[in-house]
Amino acid sequence: MAFGFYIGVTLLLSVLATAKCDYIPDGVLHMECRDRYFMIAVDLSFTGDEPHFEAVDRTGAYPVTEQYAVKCGYSVSVLPQPGHVELRASYFSCHTDNKDDEVFTFNFNLLATHEGQKATYSLNKTCSPSLPWSPREVTCEVNYMEVSVRSEVTCPTGTKKDDWNTLKPAHSSTTSDWQVMFQRAEEQLPPMNLSEARKQGNVFDLTDGRLVFRTPYGQPDSFSTTVNGVPVEVVHATLFSRQSWVVLMIDLVAACSTHEGTYNDSGYVVLDTPEALYPGLVSTHVNIGLNGELMEQAAAEERGYIMEKHNSTVHISIPYNAEGGYRKSFVTGDLHEFYVFNLYLEQILVDEDHAETRVRFHRSLATPLLPRLVFTENRTVFEEHMFTVYLGDVPEDVELVAVQLNGHECTLPLTNTSTYTISKVVQPNNTHGYTLKVPFDDPVVIQQFSKEDAAMQHQLNINYTLTVQPENEPYYHLTSVMALTDVSPPTFDAVCSETGISFRLDHRPFDYLWDISIGSDPLTSELAAQHGYIMSNDSQSLLLKVPLFTQGYEYKDFTLKGFSGTFEILVRDHETSEVQISAVKTCPFTTNELIVCSPDGRMTVVADLSLAIPSGGIPARANLIDKYCGPKEADSTRALFSFPLNSCGSIVKLNKENVTYQNEIFYSKKFLNKKAVSDNTMERVTIQCTYPLARLYRLFSVYRFESDAAGIGRIIHTTQSTEGLPSIEPTAAVKTTPATKRPTRGPVMMRPAFHPPARYVRVSKVNHLPWGIKGAERSSQSKVNAALI
Ligand SMILES: *[C@@H]1O[C@H](CO)[C@@H](O)[C@H](O)[C@H]1NC(C)=O
Ligand SMILES: *[C@@H]1O[C@H](CO)[C@@H](O)[C@H](O)[C@H]1NC(C)=O
Ligand SMILES: *[C@@H]1O[C@H](CO)[C@@H](O)[C@H](O)[C@H]1NC(C)=O
Ligand SMILES: *[C@@H]1O[C@H](CO)[C@@H](O)[C@H](O)[C@H]1NC(C)=O
Ligand SMILES: *[C@@H]1O[C@H](CO)[C@@H](O)[C@H](O)[C@H]1NC(C)=O
Ligand SMILES: *[C@@H]1O[C@H](CO)[C@@H](O)[C@H](O)[C@H]1NC(C)=O
Ligand SMILES: *[C@@H]1O[C@H](CO)[C@@H](O)[C@H](O)[C@H]1NC(C)=O
Ligand SMILES: *[C@@H]1O[C@H](CO)[C@@H](O)[C@H](O)[C@H]1NC(C)=O
Ligand SMILES: *[C@@H]1O[C@H](CO)[C@@H](O)[C@H](O)[C@H]1NC(C)=O
Ligand SMILES: *[C@@H]1O[C@H](CO)[C@@H](O)[C@H](O)[C@H]1NC(C)=O
Repeated sequence: MAFGFYIGVTLLLSVLATAKCDYIPDGVLHMECRDRYFMIAVDLSFTGDEPHFEAVDRTGAYPVTEQYAVKCGYSVSVLPQPGHVELRASYFSCHTDNKDDEVFTFNFNLLATHEGQKATYSLNKTCSPSLPWSPREVTCEVNYMEVSVRSEVTCPTGTKKDDWNTLKPAHSSTTSDWQVMFQRAEEQLPPMNLSEARKQGNVFDLTDGRLVFRTPYGQPDSFSTTVNGVPVEVVHATLFSRQSWVVLMIDLVAACSTHEGTYNDSGYVVLDTPEALYPGLVSTHVNIGLNGELMEQAAAEERGYIMEKHNSTVHISIPYNAEGGYRKSFVTGDLHEFYVFNLYLEQILVDEDHAETRVRFHRSLATPLLPRLVFTENRTVFEEHMFTVYLGDVPEDVELVAVQLNGHECTLPLTNTSTYTISKVVQPNNTHGYTLKVPFDDPVVIQQFSKEDAAMQHQLNINYTLTVQPENEPYYHLTSVMALTDVSPPTFDAVCSETGISFRLDHRPFDYLWDISIGSDPLTSELAAQHGYIMSNDSQSLLLKVPLFTQGYEYKDFTLKGFSGTFEILVRDHETSEVQISAVKTCPFTTNELIVCSPDGRMTVVADLSLAIPSGGIPARANLIDKYCGPKEADSTRALFSFPLNSCGSIVKLNKENVTYQNEIFYSKKFLNKKAVSDNTMERVTIQCTYPLARLYRLFSVYRFESDAAGIGRIIHTTQSTEGLPSIEPTAAVKTTPATKRPTRGPVMMRPAFHPPARYVRVSKVNHLPWGIKGAERSSQSKVNAALI
């Protein structure tokens, strides 16, 4: 009948279990029979936030609440590190099926919220602990003290089993005459009956061969004391029963160190426990371990644990970073961390008769919050022209999620289009780091001129956003890096116009480091005025317009269509005056007439000959004083001549300041017909280059013309009579100044070749020779030339 009932319940339970049909995947659940307890660990990721257990036996399922756990020998802890919920059940826990203190069957329900659904999973396991029970076993659990003693020892033969049965809660008898007497230090409390003692939270139980007593910490019947300076909680119950003339007494003592652990600066957590917890006993072994597993002394030492005895106290030191400990990052203002150790300790003590007492001790020790420092290191290699910043010692459970670069937020991962990069570096010591690279000239970098250093300062303020996982709690780490780079000299923008070249320079705060010059002369408003440049300068920018033919131009590529003019502005170091950079601009120009007297002694002329050639004549047939010197190029009105100053029959005139080379463009008479000859208002075209003597080099020592400046050229158009050759008495000459248009022809006989400005110059008295030079005079003139060149 009873058998049938049990089968029925078992079937019902298994039907219920299968009906729930909840299945725990592999790797999530871990059940293990340990020496002195049974353990279930389930991943929190599977169970959700609030997993619960129910202890199950034939009579039903009993929720393992905090109170119930203390009473019944369970302890449940949620361990965020390593992320599981753990249940430990004493082999003498309430709902465990105990066969002869050898085979123990545990049944539990796990109630969890999985994927938003409440689910129940039934778990069972049968354990046969291999370690034999010592005569006395003490367990100092985190939430209760439990002591079991071999009943045969305390109950010599003759004690009837039935008497003990009265202690079993299931069969508790109100008529039991067993009394309990608690002892607190030296004080003996009045005896009470068992039901009275149970009301105070004490549990007495009788198994096949052992008497079990379990009590929570801090009961009124227990007491705290110190042993060798170590705090200890002791509960001392004496059970007695008068059976006719025999008094049976059983002493049940549990003493547990309540030392909270100390933490020292070298990174050790130290736990003290008295060597002799029980008066009269001698400690023979102390074994330690973490997470419920004891290890050999050698293994413990290998992991850096230190066990020392001083003054009958065992000091157990565990390094913070010991394997098996858990660390967790935590943000409170700064980044902190703490370590949690689920310490497990075994002490074996013996009495005179070598009767063993085995004490097992569980204690979760959490270190205080310790500052956890991440660091940044400037690993910039200047030559790479980019910042390299390493953020290091980032703990495993902390991640970089974003960086703010000078206030610009960038979340990770960065897109590969960004100019900066962040790469993760994993270190072997369970830390990792991040390498950030940002080019100096990236738009996010603040660039500022530093007067002090006379250099460009690149500044990068970094605000790292790190989050502690899994809570996602943010922590900010700030750093700032700076680099100085040399500043570049100013660069001008230049544009061509018809009349010249315009240069523009936008001022920068550090431009005072350079001087601007035209050739060797610093650019000042005086120089600009003197040379005819148009300069405007305000706080924003400098604008310099350089009209064509002003000083400083170089001309090339002369054709009738035009020529190119080049103007150069030099940028010199303010200190050394060395040229750092120059702004050179070459522009194409067109002009009707032009004369260029180059520093190396070449005269290049484009002259309008329309009034100098009789009708029917063509400029291509014009020539210079030396009739073999013809134009290089000609069109219907103009001709281009280019020749060394002292050739082609040039006349040299010398005064105390200047040397002038003069020539003239002729139209040979043989091309003239009679009609044309009768035209007596033909124009004479005189061309001349004047060089100040002071600027000539070696004119008299070597046969080479060399001037440090271009000469001043003139094309002088004068009217002449074709009858006879009067001495030249030009009334007007025109300096080479730019002209884009030929002035309108009119009655003006001496018209400027270029405009503006027209400059009227009187030709010096030296110039009294007739243009048609006769033999002797000519040869003497040639001598002068020879002497000069
Ligand atoms: C114990 O659990 C196993 C699965 O782990 C199951 O097959 C068995 O039926 C369970 N036993 C009881 C009595 O619930
Ligand atoms: C135990 O003691 C209490 C108070 O001393 C008394 O009320 C109670 O009846 C006793 N119980 C038994 C079973 O003797
Ligand atoms: C911290 O404890 C360890 C182990 O007991 C010891 O070796 C170390 O000297 C202690 N350090 C300090 C600063 O007390
Ligand atoms: C041992 O303890 C006694 C008393 O508590 C104390 O006086 C003595 O200094 C201690 N010795 C050591 C080595 O700690
Ligand atoms: C990133 O680079 C890969 C190849 O290197 C390219 O295929 C991908 O389109 C890029 N993504 C972005 C967002 O630029
Ligand atoms: C971890 O290793 C790296 C690289 O060896 C080292 O720079 C860092 O200081 C180490 N951090 C810690 C906390 O030991
Ligand atoms: C760093 O960034 C965070 C998040 O953007 C911000 O709240 C914080 O004020 C920043 N810190 C500084 C000093 O700029
Ligand atoms: C960082 O490194 C660069 C290159 O070595 C150096 O110029 C700079 O002064 C360093 N310090 C800071 C604070 O940026
Ligand atoms: C132009 O003006 C700036 C200040 O506005 C001055 O520093 C600079 O010397 C001036 N440059 C010239 C060429 O006058
Ligand atoms: C020399 O030439 C310059 C420029 O053409 C002129 O100003 C100066 O008067 C000339 N000197 C003499 C003595 O003719």
